[in-house]
Amino acid sequence: MKTIKTVKSMQKAMQTERRKGHRIGFVPTMGALHEGHSSLVRKARKLSDIVVVSIFVNPAQFGPSEDLANYPRTLRADKKLLRNLDVEYLFTPGNDEMYPDGFQTWIEFEEITRKLEGKFRPGHFRGVATIVAKLFNAITPDIAVFGQKDAQQAVIIKRMVQDLNMPVKISIAPTVREKSGLAISSRNRYFNAEQLDRASCIYRGLRSGRDLIRSGETDVGKIIKAVRKPIEETKGTITEYVSINDALTLEKLDRIDGKVLISLAVRLDGVRLIDNIAAAPGKSKD
Ligand code: PAJ
Repeated sequence: MKTIKTVKSMQKAMQTERRKGHRIGFVPTMGALHEGHSSLVRKARKLSDIVVVSIFVNPAQFGPSEDLANYPRTLRADKKLLRNLDVEYLFTPGNDEMYPDGFQTWIEFEEITRKLEGKFRPGHFRGVATIVAKLFNAITPDIAVFGQKDAQQAVIIKRMVQDLNMPVKISIAPTVREKSGLAISSRNRYFNAEQLDRASCIYRGLRSGRDLIRSGETDVGKIIKAVRKPIEETKGTITEYVSINDALTLEKLDRIDGKVLISLAVRLDGVRLIDNIAAAPGKSKD
C-alpha cells in the first residue's frame, strides 16, 4: 500500500493508473476504521481494479461544540487494517493541504440539508460536500462507496454529483451492525459493555417501526411512537429526533406511501448516535 499526502502526487499517481486502464474505486473516511469501513473497501474492490482510501478528519464538518479534538485518531491500526484488505493507495492529506490560506470556495445546498441531521448540525453537510468534492478532484475515482449508515450524507453526495456533473458513480453499502443490532461506529469505542447493551434499544426501535410499516400501518405518528418506545424506556437516552422521510428525496411524510427511511439521532450518556432503517409496506425483506 502506498501512502500519499499531497493532492499533486495523488493526481499524478491516479493518472498513471488510468493510463494502465485501471478503474479507480474510492472510499473516503475519517479514520478510526472498523468493520463498517472494511465493508465499503470490499465493495469498492468488487467494483474496480484499484482501491484508494482517504483518511482525513475534516474540521469543516464539525460544529463548534462537537468533538473534533477528541475524534479518535488511530492511524497505525488503520494502516494495518487497510494493508490486510490489500488497498493500493492511502491518501492522508494534512489540514494545510486541504484548506490552505485563502481558501474560500464551498458547496452548499438548498432544501436537503435543512432537515434531519442538517437541522441539528448547521454547516455539517457544507463541510462534508466540500471535502468530498475536493477528494474527488484529487483522486478522480470512477466509483466512490458510501455507507447507508449516514443516509442523508449518501443522498446529498448523490445530489451533488448529479447537479455538478461529476464523472463518478456513487455506490451505497448497507449498514454493518453488531450482533445486538447496534450500528458499528467509531463513537461506540466510548462505551463499555453495559452501555453497548443499552445502545441496542436504538435498533429495536427502528425494527419495530419497520415491522409496523410492513404490516400496513400508514400513520406516521403511530410509527414514530413505536420507534421511540424502547429507546425512551432505556436509561440514559435522550432522543433528538425520529423522522420518517421519503427514501429518495428525504421529503417529510405524513402518511406512508412507498419506500421510506426511518431515521433518528439519540444521545446515550451524552454520546450522539445516528441510525436509520429503510421500510416499505408489505415488504418482508430489506
Ligand atoms: P466516516 O464517519 O469515517 O465514515 C466513512 C464512511 O463509512 C461513510 O460513507 C459512512 O457512511 C461509512 N460507515 C460508517 N459506519 C458504517 C457502518 N456501520 N456500516 C456501513 N458503513 C459505515 O462519513 C464520513 O466519515 C465523512 O463524512 C466523510 C464522507 C469521509 C467526509 O469527511
